[in-house]
Amino acid sequence: MNKKITIAIDGFSSTGKSTIAKLIANKYNYIYVDTGAMYRAVTLFAKNNGFVEQDSLDRESLIANLPNISLRFQFNENLGFAEMFLNNENVEKEIRTLEISQLVSKIAAISEVRKKLVAEQQEMGKNGGIVMDGRDIGTVVFPDAELKLFMTASSGKRATRRYNELIDKGDVVSYEDILFNVQERDRIDSTRDDSPLVKAFDAIEIDNSDLGIQEQFDKISELINQKNR
Ligand code: DC
Repeated sequence: MNKKITIAIDGFSSTGKSTIAKLIANKYNYIYVDTGAMYRAVTLFAKNNGFVEQDSLDRESLIANLPNISLRFQFNENLGFAEMFLNNENVEKEIRTLEISQLVSKIAAISEVRKKLVAEQQEMGKNGGIVMDGRDIGTVVFPDAELKLFMTASSGKRATRRYNELIDKGDVVSYEDILFNVQERDRIDSTRDDSPLVKAFDAIEIDNSDLGIQEQFDKISELINQKNR
């Protein structure tokens, strides 16, 4: 039997990390963890409790309330992936809105939030057989992961993908707002003090601006097979 390895996928927002991670997890029967969903759920909690708005952040109240945040993934057979539950409530839809995307980088820059989520992520992946995507998986959460990928694509391509996703769901958004959000999150996520988004020295970079899903899937499957040989 093949050894179950740890696969860390990092990269900028809307680079298709989760799409490819889900396919890989299904093929190899690995657990998939979308760590962005965890930061989004904490952001939703902060918003619902009045701790964060576009122009304000009550850092201290959020930190004091971190013990009251319970996060859980629950696999949905029909969808084929795990949905995010915040304090036992399914928040999968609420965490994917543009409003949460506009607030999440502020919340993800708080060290106390990162400490809590990183500990939970390390616990989920302690037995291997996991595909985890995010911004700091290969650098902080699993620095010893057997396979590290770093996904990139032009901001224009990424904004178009995100715009189409939201429009397909029926959200009313403008392309300009999405492009601004993608570029702004790149900036905040890459320049924050705690665990900024950087490519791990041993990560393999995949620019998928002009790569289809199948090509990426084949390429990554080959990399996994090499690790298992
Ligand atoms: O992957 P995503 O776009 O759903 O992530 C939402 C935000 O969460 C992203 O802008 C930065 C933050 N994030 C992070 O700081 N560290 C992670 N491991 C995952 C996400």
